[in-house]
Amino acid sequence: LRHMLTIEGLNRELLTEILDTAESFANMNEKAVKKVPLLRGKTIVNLFFEASTRTRTTFELAAKRLSADVLNVNINTSSAVKGESLLDTLRNIEAMNVDMFVVRHEESGAAHFIARHVAPGISVLNAGDGRHAHPTQALLDMFTIRRHKGDFTKLKVAIVGDILHSRVARSQIHALNILQTGEVRVVAPCSLLPADVDQLGVHVYNDLDAGLKDVDVIIMLRLQRERMEHAHLPSEHEYYQLFGLTSRRLQLAHPTCLVMHPGPANRGVEIESAVADGPHSVILEQVTYGISVRMAVMSMVMGAHQA
Ligand code: CP
Repeated sequence: LRHMLTIEGLNRELLTEILDTAESFANMNEKAVKKVPLLRGKTIVNLFFEASTRTRTTFELAAKRLSADVLNVNINTSSAVKGESLLDTLRNIEAMNVDMFVVRHEESGAAHFIARHVAPGISVLNAGDGRHAHPTQALLDMFTIRRHKGDFTKLKVAIVGDILHSRVARSQIHALNILQTGEVRVVAPCSLLPADVDQLGVHVYNDLDAGLKDVDVIIMLRLQRERMEHAHLPSEHEYYQLFGLTSRRLQLAHPTCLVMHPGPANRGVEIESAVADGPHSVILEQVTYGISVRMAVMSMVMGAHQA
């Protein structure tokens, strides 16, 4: 494993190895062990061309807990604003002898492009590219589900909302299918489903009540308005009436159902506050586990394994 660009094409053994490695880091983090020296002497560069709260900070914390040096490049105050190209930006940072780029970019395929152009020996981790992929988010979501539910083969999982514009949904669907999840549902209006939805190995529902029936896990997604120039959207109020997860609707799911959301959540648009903060919600656990999962991915691409 040199890069982590997408979940697509990975196999069950590798995903399980990543989750197992994350488990050992999670145990360490839960014992408040502050640092391990696995990436001492390595330099990791966070290169975020798009806004982020959870992903950038948990990548930074994960790198620091592995004893790496971390460089956060603020693109808005970098020489990119003076017209320096992406490749020139990369070449100049590479000249500082760095070992890994963690990249978020609004263009689908940006992380693959960077991975094709970095010097040999440098790893690239995709922290979200356009509407294409967000592999470490999907991995931390799988980790959260596995911790609570164990065996994926018996689970019904519903992913609800803006599937069309969501890189998270795409990566989750691949991961859930690779892990042989019993049933993967997507629940959305037709206008928010991708054209290739029939090839994704999911059951499609356009009605939320039907899609939630007896599910073990609900993953809510926000409306990605920044990627929606041409989409015909209902108002937020209409959307909430049709696709918002409320306490009443949650009762349609299995009584031990998990409620997940990759964040940022829009309360009162896709999810009721009482549900986001309620007893079924594991939304903040997802954030916590993001550190362990990113520690696992970073140490594995660097060939450094947890003892
Ligand atoms: N889930 C996620 O990618 O959140 P951020 O945009 O805050 O990183």
